[in-house]
Amino acid sequence: MLVTGATGRIGRAVIEVLTDAGMPVRALVRRSEAAAALPTNVEIVSGDLTVPGSLDAALRAVSTVFLVWTAPPQTAAPVVDRLATHAQRVVYLSAPHRTPHPFFQQPNPMAALHAEIERLIAASGMDSTIIRPGMFASNALLWWADTIRGGGVVRWPYGAAETAPVDDRDVAAVVARTLCEDGHAGGDYVLTGPESLSQAEQVSIIGDVLGRPITFEELAPDDFRRRAPQASRPAVDMLLAAWNATMGQSAYVTSTVPDILGTPPRTFRQWATDHATAFTEGPHSGN
Ligand SMILES: NC(=O)c1ccc[n+]([C@@H]2O[C@H](COP(=O)([O-])OP(=O)(O)OC[C@H]3O[C@@H](n4cnc5c(N)ncnc54)[C@H](OP(=O)(O)O)[C@@H]3O)[C@@H](O)[C@H]2O)c1
Repeated sequence: MLVTGATGRIGRAVIEVLTDAGMPVRALVRRSEAAAALPTNVEIVSGDLTVPGSLDAALRAVSTVFLVWTAPPQTAAPVVDRLATHAQRVVYLSAPHRTPHPFFQQPNPMAALHAEIERLIAASGMDSTIIRPGMFASNALLWWADTIRGGGVVRWPYGAAETAPVDDRDVAAVVARTLCEDGHAGGDYVLTGPESLSQAEQVSIIGDVLGRPITFEELAPDDFRRRAPQASRPAVDMLLAAWNATMGQSAYVTSTVPDILGTPPRTFRQWATDHATAFTEGPHSGN
């Protein structure tokens, strides 16, 4: 079994679930220093999704691949071809771009890339399972942890926009099931957390968990866009369009996580409790 994106949020969590279950796992990494943080019983093989020929060693004797794609789109077709010459089965981390809820229906380059990779996988002849998580709960770390660690005010657009944050560990547990169990070929799974929460409510829950109120202030979308680094503009535009489109509506919530795992999905409060130290300890950029 080959796990790509092994040093990222979901890939790393998938590796933890698989190694805890005693499954033999190979991890694809492109920087050896990043692999040091992976469990010691994982086989590490280097390779880069932008250089399809570099994947051959990682694919040797592999039957199943977990594919995470955050690389540029140009090499997607030759990489999927290469996977199909070795593996019989692929589980692909996509997004809910087919779900008829306004939050997921805003055209954006990432959705287009996911759709294209799904098309390539369908044409490849491999058995496939498509995993479509909504907002990751862990986005809160990227978005708010630095400000909260510094004791500052969270200034953020569309505070009333509701999402149903899904815990990375629940996404990983579902991925691991689909990698290890039969019966998921052709599966197309939209994964969400259990409840619809506005962004301001999510910040408030983090404050509850930390035992101190966190002030949330509405930020104009244009100010949010202006503050974003140039490189993250496409992602920022995607988020602003999605939040804007979902204003006034509850988030889309599915029962797929409990249906597959047989256990309730973790709530955002649970996620925040388990990650509380990330909001209290560590560096603060001063922004
Ligand atoms: N964030 C959300 O709320 C959300 C929701 C739904 C779906 N998604 C989807 O989830 C995916 C991202 O998952 P994630 O958050 O787990 O990723 P992540 O934490 O950003 O990690 C990306 C992983 O991909 C690896 N990678 C990047 N470029 C590579 C390349 N050229 N060759 C080999 N490996 C490469 C990275 O390796 P390095 O460590 O070497 O960089 C890292 O392991 C995206 O496709 C996104 O659309 C995200």
